[in-house]
Amino acid sequence: MQNETLPGSGLSIGIIMDGNGRWAKKRGLPRTMGHKKGAEVFMDIGRYCSDIGVESVFFYAFSTENWIRPADEVSGIMRLFGEYLIKAFDYKKDNIRLKFLGDRSRLPAEYQARMQELEEGSADRTGMTLNICMNYGGRDEIAHAARTLAAKVQAGELRPEEIDVERMSGAMYTAGQKDPDFILRPSGEKRLSNFMLWQAAYSELIELDKLWPDFTRADLDAAIAEFNRRSRRFGGV
Ligand code: FPP
Repeated sequence: MQNETLPGSGLSIGIIMDGNGRWAKKRGLPRTMGHKKGAEVFMDIGRYCSDIGVESVFFYAFSTENWIRPADEVSGIMRLFGEYLIKAFDYKKDNIRLKFLGDRSRLPAEYQARMQELEEGSADRTGMTLNICMNYGGRDEIAHAARTLAAKVQAGELRPEEIDVERMSGAMYTAGQKDPDFILRPSGEKRLSNFMLWQAAYSELIELDKLWPDFTRADLDAAIAEFNRRSRRFGGV
């Protein structure tokens, strides 16, 4: 149930969890330790988003390009993700719906099965939707949507001239969800890095000079306050 008086009420937020590697390097630790701390912050901020009434949140956990990282770093992130897939069964009491966005075909079969179980088991919940973008790429998502619609055309279920923005949106992994009101990127970088390219058309970009493992609930409050000060015109005046 959405409570209109909460600070995050009705908001859709995208979060690029950046800076884990630098956080670890600054402490002389292996990069995987930065991801471990980043995963703890992700757990806490996910719950906090739900507590403050956020409608949907999208966390960028692993991109279609991240496979080129050193093998031990990739396996470290996958291990953290696997641990999360077990912990996430606890979301029942928070009424959180879970969704995984991205191409799962490259993930281990047991992960794919758990992801499906978590999505199906939480589909009827009425609280926040927590989206995890795993092996996700914005360009890959757009290509996937194009293939889905092309197959419908080939099957005679759709005419090419019927393909419009609404149908494209409906063929994205985010079908039925609100586009992000703002996308938050800690670590001082000012790039989308292939995150939600279709959905970010009118998202406000909020960057923060702090690394993701140092990100706090107060930083999210500050980002929401910053978003509320922005004037959005959606192409109008
Ligand atoms: C970007 O920081 C971060 C990632 C590529 C991985 C994010 C993964 C997690 C927070 C944990 C796993 C996810 C779940 C859902 C449990 P970077 O490594 O590029 O940082 P840098 O720019 O400082 O090197």
